[in-house]
Amino acid sequence: VDREEKIVLQEIKIGLLGLGTVGSGVYRILTERQKFLAQKTGLNFIPKRILVRDLGRKRAVAVDPGLLTTDPTQVVAHPEIDLVVEVLGGVEPARSLIAAALQAKKSVITANKELIATHGAQLYQLAREQGVDLFFEASVAGGIPILGPLQHSLAGEDIEAVYGIVNGTTNYILTAMTEQARSYADVLAEAQALGYAEADPTADVAGHDAARKLAILAALAFDQYVDLDDVYCEGIEKIKPADIAFASQLGYVVKLVAIARKKAAGLEARVHPALVPAGHPLAGIKGVFNGIIVEGWAVGSLLFTGAGAGQMPTGSAVVGDIVAAAKNYVAGQRGKPGLGFVKKSRVLPMEEVENSYYLRLQVEAGTMAVAKVVRHLSEAGVELKTLEICKGNEQVDLILKTSTVKEGIFMQVLSLLQAERDIKQVDAVIRCLVE
Ligand code: NAP
Ligand code: HSE
Repeated sequence: VDREEKIVLQEIKIGLLGLGTVGSGVYRILTERQKFLAQKTGLNFIPKRILVRDLGRKRAVAVDPGLLTTDPTQVVAHPEIDLVVEVLGGVEPARSLIAAALQAKKSVITANKELIATHGAQLYQLAREQGVDLFFEASVAGGIPILGPLQHSLAGEDIEAVYGIVNGTTNYILTAMTEQARSYADVLAEAQALGYAEADPTADVAGHDAARKLAILAALAFDQYVDLDDVYCEGIEKIKPADIAFASQLGYVVKLVAIARKKAAGLEARVHPALVPAGHPLAGIKGVFNGIIVEGWAVGSLLFTGAGAGQMPTGSAVVGDIVAAAKNYVAGQRGKPGLGFVKKSRVLPMEEVENSYYLRLQVEAGTMAVAKVVRHLSEAGVELKTLEICKGNEQVDLILKTSTVKEGIFMQVLSLLQAERDIKQVDAVIRCLVE
């Protein structure tokens, strides 16, 4: 018997807010794989209305112009629309439109990390009150299923840490700078053209996008949300090709890492560039790929990896949520979000966080600068793990790596070094990944 003959299809009408990079991916999957999805789920997914800003804009996908609208109520208040997908970006009007959809008893799927990281608690509460779903798998690490596993497969796990590479744009830039010696600006422009970057790419390169994703990961991993303002955040703007090259000589790769780790006194939550040992699983995560390590008490270490941004991988994560929300809708089982955004965690101040450090200093030739560096470090109880002296025609560079030390103590040593006359300037300070 032909399988299609047995399928009783129920229509699920979708309202899309946005038809940019991600929206186009979602539209393509829903339409180009419509028959496949129907066979797989017994549901017929139909895009019903699509909110855009500019009706005349040339689109990456062929869409019936009759579906497009600039009136948000045509989506969030449309009586026939069952599910709303928000892929606009930014806090407003996304927040108000999602709230309106939830109030109209429509489940919502969003890819918006900025919104969930800042207003997740309120939106979760609203979804709970309205008895509908709010899903956001695509908000973290593009196509990689990570929020689902954290909430379901790892529901019984005591998670000790979640960390890794969660921004595709910066990983794309750092990989090209490392492997092709290309310029930062050139590669950023390419990442933008490929649809990886945020509307304002400062969010990527300054680490804000990764910090938002870390806040969401921490909420779901530890059942406690963190205030985004408490997440330490440093981007890749100051990373120089020279440091990438020196790191490589020392056996490291420079990556932008996001780290959330449970400690006795609170939670570490931080985003910054880090020297990652060349043999570490994160060192091999290249280009637009992301890699997230989850460490659990019973399960040990898990690595989730795949495309962290881009039209089709992110579209895949959104469509996964659409199918899950539609199944709940059909089964009458909506509105059971987890605990993630109920309780707030204490985030440790950065001074209390332990790291080892890579330092590049310019010193006066023929002085006691090296001895002074060694003395200041040793007086603070910090071991010098490596020291290289590079003598150029006009300057002497010291490249060193320290033992693990609390950031507060290291920063005091750094001030003492900066006050020394023989030390002309500190050119780079990069933390090293401590496993
Ligand atoms: P995008 O390409 O800039 O698309 C945004 C879409 O929303 C456009 O279609 C735009 O309309 C529409 N839009 C924006 N503001 C609007 C407004 N005020 N009224 C009506 N329409 C409006 O953005 P994107 O890259 O798809 O990202 C969308 C969301 O997904 C963001 O939250 C982003 O962080 C998240 N995300 C992106 C990726 C990625 O790889 N790009 C991956 C994961 C998550 P017009 O087309 O008419 O301008
Ligand atoms: N701008 C984001 C990134 C998109 O580069 O990772 C995916 O969230």
